[in-house]
Amino acid sequence: MANILIVNIKELIGVDESGRLAARGREMGEPGLLHDAYLLISDGKIVDYGKMHARSVASLAGSFPDAQVLDAAGRLVMPAFCDAHTHLVYPASRELEYIDKIKGLSYEEIAKRGGGILNTAARMGSISEKELFESAQYRLHEIMRMGTGAVEIKSGYGLTPETELKMLRVIRKLKETSPLSIKATFLGAHAVPLAFKGNQAAYVDQVINEMIPAVAGEDLADYIDVFCDKGFFTVEDTDRILNAGMKYGLRPKIHANELANSGGIQVGVKYNALSVDHLEYTGDDEIEALLTAETMPVILPGAAFFLGMPLAPARKMIDAGLPLAMASDFNPGSSPSGNMQLILSMASILYRLIPEEGLLATTLNGAYAMGLSEELGSISKGKTANVLISHPMPGLAYMPYYYGTNKIETVILNGKIQIVNH
Ligand code: NIG
Ligand code: FE
Repeated sequence: MANILIVNIKELIGVDESGRLAARGREMGEPGLLHDAYLLISDGKIVDYGKMHARSVASLAGSFPDAQVLDAAGRLVMPAFCDAHTHLVYPASRELEYIDKIKGLSYEEIAKRGGGILNTAARMGSISEKELFESAQYRLHEIMRMGTGAVEIKSGYGLTPETELKMLRVIRKLKETSPLSIKATFLGAHAVPLAFKGNQAAYVDQVINEMIPAVAGEDLADYIDVFCDKGFFTVEDTDRILNAGMKYGLRPKIHANELANSGGIQVGVKYNALSVDHLEYTGDDEIEALLTAETMPVILPGAAFFLGMPLAPARKMIDAGLPLAMASDFNPGSSPSGNMQLILSMASILYRLIPEEGLLATTLNGAYAMGLSEELGSISKGKTANVLISHPMPGLAYMPYYYGTNKIETVILNGKIQIVNH
């Protein structure tokens, strides 16, 4: 495999040889940074980096004779984004509901009328696996162009054993064919399907007795999720489902406290969830529960922005010493964008994270929330070379500041140049 030598890097950001799997509290404001640096990639891995100073481009290139040399003068180099929460396999967009939303209907009201998740699920039965795969592949390419190198994708728009498996098989095929690192999460308990209306317990039984064994039998999921919230699944439902998942080795990553203070965070912590996600309704008790846990809190700014929800208390969480990740929630109903650069901007504009904290929330801590931070999420020797080169810019703060455009020039995944945006 080819070697790549990046030279004259204005700022190499996210440098980390501590071996830590996540950054928490005050550490989040201090990602490692080198000015005027070089980075060497070999056989898909980061093998070396350092300051240019004493070393000229010619001498560096001489030490690595077969390397392709990229000049990053005036540019930042950073780890590719790690997007720990998406639903990017879906059959159709939902811009008609979006109009209802503009006119004032809430997410819950739309859901009650059979819209929302059920609207998407109604289309899942008829779409072919091929179409589902191709549309998701397009979205993966789109997010890769904007700098995402690793992504978690959930099922949850099928809501029958057959269609949930169909979604997960599509995710498996994406894993096999995409240069992105992908983790699959089984989300059978995303909504109660119409066929089980008024009989939620029977649907939970089906998730536990039919779906989980089938998903585990084909080894289709890395994680298990439940939408534990007001109007969706209760703490008791969640408890039962996570307990069943645990027996098959499925670690939870759950939707919690988006619509109400639902007890979701505590039940997630109880089952040693890898992450609890959304968290709009997070109080002191929830922060307390997370402080001693190995569970990553994940905030989804795109959903709060798109649905006009209250904002999760990100600043308070970091100041209390917690780690924090931010992800896109890319889905057709509550966050129709997988642009992690926009998430970085929202991190600072809406949630008052400084750019350095935003960077760690969308790289190393996102990798943690996918179980990938041993190999991804920072510029560390031996880690997989998922690396971005920015367009020329003054410094890291420009990244969230100049919002709305693609500021990534080159995307390198697994040590290979995948994209060059001009
Ligand atoms: O994370 N909150 C639950 N699920 C998704 C929304 C899915 C949809 O509306 O299609 C979310 O926001
Ligand atoms: Fe979600």
